[in-house]
Parts: sequence; C-alpha cells; structure tokens
Amino acid sequence: PHRYAVIGNPIAHSQSPVIHAAFAEQCGEVIDYGRILGDRHDFAADVQRFFAQGGLGLNVTLPFKEQAWALVDERSERAEVAGAVNTLIVLPDGRLRGDNTDGIGLVRDLADNHGFTFAGARVLLLGAGGAARGVLVPLLGSGLRELVIANRTAERAHTLAVLGSGSSTVPVAACGFEGLIGERFDLVINATSAGLSGAVPPIPADLLAPGGWTYDMLYGAEPTAFCRWGQAHGAARSLDGLGMLVEQAAESFRLWRGVRPRTAEVIAMLRAAD
Ligand code: ATR
Repeated sequence: PHRYAVIGNPIAHSQSPVIHAAFAEQCGEVIDYGRILGDRHDFAADVQRFFAQGGLGLNVTLPFKEQAWALVDERSERAEVAGAVNTLIVLPDGRLRGDNTDGIGLVRDLADNHGFTFAGARVLLLGAGGAARGVLVPLLGSGLRELVIANRTAERAHTLAVLGSGSSTVPVAACGFEGLIGERFDLVINATSAGLSGAVPPIPADLLAPGGWTYDMLYGAEPTAFCRWGQAHGAARSLDGLGMLVEQAAESFRLWRGVRPRTAEVIAMLRAAD
C-alpha cells in the first residue's frame, strides 16, 4: 500500500494515524500511515530513510517543523512565510516539496465547520511564536478586514506583522498585551503556549465585540483555559483546536491523494473518544 507517516518527538500520542486511517477508509483508499519517533539530532536521516524505502509523504510535528522547512527542495508560499513545514511531498523527480496546512486548517474549521464570517472581521492573533507564524498567510487570505498580532514580547509581534504585511495587502498591526486596552475584536485566536500550563495571556476582559468568538489552537478532553476565558467573557462561540487538527490533516491528505475527505465525522469521532 501507499506509505505515509507522521514524524515527531515525542510521537506516541499523535492522532494523525487515526485521522488518516479514517480518511482513507472513507475514500475507499488503502494507505499505510505510521508513526516515526524522529531522532532529535538527525532528523534529515530519518526523512531520507523513509523516502528511500518508498514512502510517499510525511507529516511533520514538534519539534521538527523548522528543520523540515530547511530540508526541502521547494516550498509553497504559505510554508515559505510560515518558516515551518508540516507536510512533505515527494515529487515525481524525487525532490521534496514542503507545505504547511495548519493555517488553512484553522480557517476552514472556523469558516466551513462553524460558519464564522471572516469577511469584514477584525481579528486578534495572540502569540508570535511558531504556532502564530504558521497560520499567517491563510489567515490573511481569509477575507478578514484587519489583523492585530499581540504578544507578551511585543517585538516578536512586530516582526510577524512585518512578515504578514509583506505577503498580503490586509492591514496588520502589532502590540504588547497592554496595547489591547480599549480594542474590540470579532475573533480572538490564541496561538500562545500559555494554555499548556493552564494559563491565559493577560488580556482585557472587554476584548470581544458583541457576538465575538474565541478560538484556541490548543485542544483537550476538558475545555482549555482559553476556551473557559471565552465562555466567561461573553464569546458567542468559544472553540478549541480539535477541528483545526483534523482540517490540517485533510489538506495534507488532499495534497497527497488528490481527494479532499469529509471532516465532520472524523472530528465527531475524536471528540467522542476524549
Ligand atoms: P509555539 O511553537 O507554540 O508558538 P514558541 O515559538 O515557543 O512556541 O512560542 C510560544 C508563544 O507563546 C510566544 O508567543 C510566547 O510569548 P513570548 O514570545 O513573549 O515568549 C507565548 N507565551 C508562552 N507562555 C505565555 C504566557 N504564560 N503568557 C503569555 N504568552 C505566553
């Protein structure tokens, strides 16, 4: 069968094999999608071995997305700007192409699965690390009216804003969290890692416009800290990142197999398994 895998370190808890198996079954395809525990000191060797043995595509997760970006022979524009690659595709001539499906996964989850209207929206992105940078191009292409990037270290937010402005005509501003006082947003996306320790960035309590939504790129069996922040501060919807996880996988599957799978039933399956 056609061989694919996800490579990361750690990797045991990756849901990607379950998701891709469900996609393949739905599309009537036979694929073999495994997990690879990558060597932190020799990622390139693991990748080369996989493709030398006939592998057709790899998903890349922490901590290797930046190394994958550096390794590939060519990149999509969204991966170029992301500085990170989560999908490796072997081209017919054997060269490796890198793409990043995280941002389109985020936008599709919000727009297609939940009906968020990006057109005209004022959107706030919290965080300026790899997770925030990874979604920049698709987010700016979503139809939103204005993007503000806020980060604990304001300078990193400014760097991302410059990067975003260079790839889009949408206005992009940047600030520290203190710069958010008096501002209102239709959508606040959490791309900080604060939630990993149960924390929420120090943001004003009245940050959401009437009808405003929150989205946490993290997800878990229990509502995340940022989801709970949204619920407590009047969010019309407070979503976690499980849908984004499945949507980024669906886009990888499409790049490899040429078919875009249905995601709703896979999201429901993972939600029920939590
Ligand atoms: P990732 O790949 O998850 O984005 P990262 O590149 O280390 O990881 O970035 C972590 C992000 O979460 C950064 O934006 C970081 O803010 P700084 O740039 O100021 O370090 C943010 N972050 C982490 N812990 C945070 C906390 N407790 N409160 C607010 N922001 C936090």
